[in-house]
Amino acid sequence: MNLTLHVTGQRKDGYHLLDSLVAFADVGDRVSVMAADKLSLDVTGPMSDGVPADATNLVWRAAELFDQPVAITLSKHLPAASGIGGGSSDAAATLLAMSDLTGERTLPEGAAQLGADVRVCLTRQAARMSGIGEIVEPVGPLPQLHAVLANPRVEVPTPAVFKALASKTNAPMPRKLPKWQGTKQLIDWLAAQRNDLEDPAMQVAPVIVDVLAALTTLPDARLARMSGSGATCFALFASREAANAAAATLAEVHPDWWVVPATLT
Ligand code: C5P
Repeated sequence: MNLTLHVTGQRKDGYHLLDSLVAFADVGDRVSVMAADKLSLDVTGPMSDGVPADATNLVWRAAELFDQPVAITLSKHLPAASGIGGGSSDAAATLLAMSDLTGERTLPEGAAQLGADVRVCLTRQAARMSGIGEIVEPVGPLPQLHAVLANPRVEVPTPAVFKALASKTNAPMPRKLPKWQGTKQLIDWLAAQRNDLEDPAMQVAPVIVDVLAALTTLPDARLARMSGSGATCFALFASREAANAAAATLAEVHPDWWVVPATLT
């Protein structure tokens, strides 16, 4: 997920230049591949509703880049099109599983075209992501962050959010990132950064205003922000216990939202 997301420019082909601090949560989908006679995909799990089990799914397109046909199982635990890189990490996990299975060490041509965020998901480490997503600089282990993730079960189309963005040339993060000494210092630093897609995402999906307001008012919440192009937002907490308690409170008030506590690294 994106702890920060600064939009710093736009390329001639329409893609946007970003400067983002990306972290990984201890919640996610599960992907497995097994050698088979032909390519197939089975989508299961609590968030599988409406997720295509065909060649339009990124995991299918990732597996297709290899010569070996496989039976793929994708267990969805993250909501689709929700701004936390679920589809990209599914594609990255498929590429890694396929390279394990086939013994092919180098990623096939076409892997980069699966999506701008697939590259960072291959590293599975906190990183500064820039360019359109192709420049990935690991930042070393982050001080542990505890979070509540909340999604109002509204899918937000990323292109529409970029289109509604008023200014495409915003300040990047400071060139040199601090060596954060602890959770509090990291959260204070994050608070001075932004997600430039928050305002346009709220225009596309006004319910995001409610999600951020609900997260901000949770007991002990230190910072609330949207991830990616939304609609998933997060609040940060000093301890896992505080995040667990806050998630339970929020889930009770909004039983129709997807609400989970998570630890980010
Ligand atoms: O690369 P991905 O398929 O995830 O991107 C979805 C859409 O988001 C793109 O078609 C583009 O409209 C927008 N996008 C962008 N700049 C980026 C990444 C995505 O404009 N760096």
